[in-house]
Amino acid sequence: MTIGTGPRGPGVLVIEPMGNAGRFLVEAADRLGLRLYAATHKEVHDAYPDRLRSALAGVCATDLTDTPRALADMEAYCRSHAVAGVAVCFELFTPLAALLAERVGLPGNDPRLARAARNKILMGEAFSAAGVPAPRWAVARDAAEARRVAESGGLGRPLVVKPAEQGGSWGVSVVDDPDGAAGRGGGSGAGRGGGVGCGPGRPDGPGPLAAAVAAAQRFTHAQPHGLELDTTALLQEYVPGAEYSCDTVVAGGVAYPLPVVRKNTTRGRYRIETGHTCPSGLDPELVRTVQHTAARAALAVGVRNGIAHTELKIPPGTRTPYVIETGARLPGDNLCEVVEAATGVSEAVAYLQAVLGRVPDTVATASAAASIRFLLPEHGGVLRHASIPEAPGTHGELHLRPGDPVPEPADSACRIGHVLARAATAHLARALAAGVVARSRVEVG
Ligand SMILES: Nc1ncnc2c1ncn2[C@@H]1O[C@H](COP(=O)(O)OP(=O)(O)OP(=O)(O)O)[C@@H](O)[C@H]1O
Ligand SMILES: [Mg+2]
Repeated sequence: MTIGTGPRGPGVLVIEPMGNAGRFLVEAADRLGLRLYAATHKEVHDAYPDRLRSALAGVCATDLTDTPRALADMEAYCRSHAVAGVAVCFELFTPLAALLAERVGLPGNDPRLARAARNKILMGEAFSAAGVPAPRWAVARDAAEARRVAESGGLGRPLVVKPAEQGGSWGVSVVDDPDGAAGRGGGSGAGRGGGVGCGPGRPDGPGPLAAAVAAAQRFTHAQPHGLELDTTALLQEYVPGAEYSCDTVVAGGVAYPLPVVRKNTTRGRYRIETGHTCPSGLDPELVRTVQHTAARAALAVGVRNGIAHTELKIPPGTRTPYVIETGARLPGDNLCEVVEAATGVSEAVAYLQAVLGRVPDTVATASAAASIRFLLPEHGGVLRHASIPEAPGTHGELHLRPGDPVPEPADSACRIGHVLARAATAHLARALAAGVVARSRVEVG
């Protein structure tokens, strides 16, 4: 065996590799000749797909919801297995990774700021402190507090209501007409975002604002680990305009910007990502502005040796990106694959290099384009049939099987599958993926 590859390479402990980015971390570790270890719960490990289980050099079984115990178990594991870096897949464990890296003396993020990469209230404070452009916000512990915020008019209309701690657009609502007056025959209530459609509350039920607060507060624990969540609801000013994401690798406190990606979402009350395309279509100067703003957001939440996935919107007629959120983790939604297909840059390789204290490889080696489109249902139910046709330059994957329940299309859990296309330009890649999605069959009964 070649020295420096396979089991002889340095080891990285991934705190829960069972996320969307896990498979990209496995591939990247293989390319870099690293040993990959997992820290997880025994029951969660039992449910790992075979491919992930067999790629691991070992597992530290612990309780990730019990910080002192998890830190003690993982520290002992890191020392006995000569672990040289700590990584994560789940946003909710990014503060734990920062604490572990500090404790073991490995390159990591600033543990004093790390909770701001998980909790959107602390994130809002960190952005304000660092002067990062972001929507104005207020907290609401219940519907009455949300109503007072809405009536004060300080955040304008529409209002975005979201959980302080959650992902996948779960519990996020855009509320144009807080008490549903428009739907009951009142005025249109369209705000500066322009006529966002959201249904009225039932005449005898809570209005849309109260319903949105209840939706944001319904997550008390994150599965599959049972991690307790902050159930405070966050109210934000609505930022209109096109949406982008931009990741930033940070190594030794130095930010290395990654390509900008255009994001498409549903409109209306629930914003589910329908697809992503790289390159973004922005002019080079605006690309640099987005990358610079994303890097500032990453540094503001204490990313020092790792990666951040930042989402931004640019209001029409402006060249100022506003940061919607950032997370100290690799992106989900197969964005690692989209970015690599378009530019040749492996975000997962760059991330592993950063957590090992190495200089990350972020130079593009290709100038093609890639686009991913998700298959979304029109309504919830049970999946009766789903198929994606084959087409050159594309590949598709179904996330659900016939007989599986299909959640209502209110967040990304409802996705039935995806199609990824690679082509010479963003326009062609988007059209190719969209064409395959249009010819796909989805029947939900
Ligand atoms: N203040 C805002 N202004 C305009 N749109 C917003 C705002 N906040 C959220 N959104 C929309 O809702 C989507 C989901 O919100 P957000 O990213 O905060 O939640 P999330 O659950 O962390 O999302 P995910 O994990 O899917 O990225 C955003 O991608 C954006 O389209
Ligand atoms: Mg988001």
